Amino acid sequence: MYKAFYRLQRNPFEITPDPSFLFPTTRHNEALATLYYGVTAHRGFVVLTGEVGTGKTLLLRSLLGLLQRRDTAFALIFNPSLSPLEFVRYIAGDFGLPSAGKAKDELIHILNEFLLQRHQHGLTTLLVVDEAHHLSAEVLEEIRLLTNLETSQQKLLQIVLAGQPELDQKLDSHELRQLKQRVALRCRLDCLNLHETGEYMRRRLTIAGLNGGPPIFEEEAIAAVHQHSKGIPRLINTICENALLAGYAKQEAVVTAPIVHGVASDLRLGVTSDKNNGTAKVAHGADDENLLRAVKMLLDVRDRMQGPVDPKGRLQ
Ligand SMILES: Nc1ncnc2c1ncn2[C@@H]1O[C@H](COP(=O)(O)OP(=O)(O)OP(=O)(O)O)[C@@H](O)[C@H]1O
Ligand SMILES: [Mg+2]
Repeated sequence: MYKAFYRLQRNPFEITPDPSFLFPTTRHNEALATLYYGVTAHRGFVVLTGEVGTGKTLLLRSLLGLLQRRDTAFALIFNPSLSPLEFVRYIAGDFGLPSAGKAKDELIHILNEFLLQRHQHGLTTLLVVDEAHHLSAEVLEEIRLLTNLETSQQKLLQIVLAGQPELDQKLDSHELRQLKQRVALRCRLDCLNLHETGEYMRRRLTIAGLNGGPPIFEEEAIAAVHQHSKGIPRLINTICENALLAGYAKQEAVVTAPIVHGVASDLRLGVTSDKNNGTAKVAHGADDENLLRAVKMLLDVRDRMQGPVDPKGRLQ
């Protein structure tokens, strides 16, 4: 809607994790390198953690993109609320192995044969679990057993778990100490600092087609985006997307700090209600209520867009 007005060809701040938009902060780079090394050097078990919206899924997609060029077969689980049997069945199915109606022991046997064959041909096989903080203790124990599939020299199945910081807490629990000991590499994503936030926004705008000309966001607006998003990429995207829409609605060629403050206030990013005691606290991510508000605001702006237009294309 605002693309032509801001000299863009694509939407720069989509919240779907699209690897073509990857902005390599030092942390993201280090994490991607660690994951890539862990898998290709057959280190066995790698864990990636990070707060909500910091880029874990994006990094996994980037990793899989890199590995596809190296003949790595992978199974990807992004809804880990499964029972141990469902979990193993899902993995076998994702590798294209016969899985229907089989018992867990049979499935593990089939999986083992498959892994051995691939290993004999020098091929890497990977299991990726996103949202792994949701895994139950039983499924985590199943994962520990999968890490036992090995030859005398090497792990047959490489495993990457990605999840929110609760995953670290789970792995630190006494119950899961055996699994924790098997983690070969760990990496963590963080929020962006002010400088990175500006660079991140500029990179997304450039990838979306901005080619020179005056900046779209003034410096104070970038500082305001950082302040309200606390450097969390998903929130940066939401704020910037809404700020572009609001700027377009006002026909402002440059997005200013007041526009950003207004958008952030409409999105109510600073507070979230605590349903237990009714007190307000700082939000670390957009909750459902905020998302609904964001959707409503987008619809409002769209309605305003559809109002009368003068011959120069400006809204009246
Ligand atoms: N380094 C980055 N470069 C470009 N975009 C990024 C980066 N990090 C995060 N993003 C963007 O931020 C948004 C959220 O990222 P993503 O969905 O990967 O977060 P997440 O950590 O998986 O969140 P959750 O914990 O909710 O699953 C996406 O639009 C993603 O493209
Ligand atoms: Mg994710």
